[in-house]
Amino acid sequence: MQTSSSQRHIFPTSDAAAQAVAAHIISTVKAKPNAVLGLATGATMEPVYAHLIAAYKRGDVRFSDVSTFNLDEYAGLAPSDPGSYRSTMDRLFFDHVDIDKTKTFLPEASLDASAAAGNDYEAMIIQAGGIDLQLLGIGRNGHIGFNEPGSAIDSRTRLVELHEDTLAANARFFDGGKVPGSAITMGIGTILSAREIVVLATGAAKADAVRDAHCGSFSPDCPASALQTHNHVLWFLDSAAASTRFAA
Ligand code: F6R
Repeated sequence: MQTSSSQRHIFPTSDAAAQAVAAHIISTVKAKPNAVLGLATGATMEPVYAHLIAAYKRGDVRFSDVSTFNLDEYAGLAPSDPGSYRSTMDRLFFDHVDIDKTKTFLPEASLDASAAAGNDYEAMIIQAGGIDLQLLGIGRNGHIGFNEPGSAIDSRTRLVELHEDTLAANARFFDGGKVPGSAITMGIGTILSAREIVVLATGAAKADAVRDAHCGSFSPDCPASALQTHNHVLWFLDSAAASTRFAA
C-alpha cells in the first residue's frame, strides 16, 4: 500500500494554473529529455499546450526526445476526423513543436477494439519505460481519463461507454454533431502506475468533483478519489475549482 501524498497549488486564475502546469512539465523534460509523458485532452488542457508551444518557440524547451501516451481516444473515429483526439493533439500541440510524431501514441480506437488493443497499449507503455508524468483533467462527474463512475481502481486500458454527463459536456467539441458513445481509455490502474500525476482543474463546474476526489478513501462514485492512493500527485487548481471547502 502506497502512502498517499498530494500537494495542492491554488492560483487566482485558470491561466495562471495552466502556466504553472506547463512550467512543471518543462522542468520535467529539461531534467529528463527523453521523458515519457502521459497527455490529456479537453478544454482545460488547451492553455497548457499553448504555454508549452510558446516556451518551445522561445527556445526554452525541446520535445524531440520525448515520448507521449494519451489517456484516451473516441472509438470509431478515424485519426483524421477533426473530433478525434489524434487530430486534437496534432492541432493543439504536436504540429507546433519538434516532437517526433512516431513517438506519440493514442489508444487504438476502432469500434470493435478487443481486449488485445488495451493490452497492446499497456505493453507499449511498459516498453517505453513507464510514464514519468501523467497529466490529468477531471470530469464534472469525477472521471479521470474516461474512467466513469463505477470504474474499478485496478482497471486497465479498455473500451468503455461514456456517461451521459460526459456526452453532454463534450458536445461542444463536435460542433452540434453527435459525440461518440464509447472510447478506449487508460484504466485507473494504468494512471496510478505513472511515477508522478499532475492534475489540472479549473472553473466552478469542477469544484464538487475536486472536493469528492479528496474526501474519505477511494469511492467508485468518484474515480478521481483513487488518486489518494498514489504517492506523488500534484493538484493545480484555480480558485473557482478550489472553492468548495476541502473535507480533509
Ligand atoms: C481527456 C480526458 C478527460 C478530461 C475531462 C475534463 O483526455 O481524459 O478526463 O480531462 O473530461 O475535460 P475538460 O477539460 O474539457 O473539462
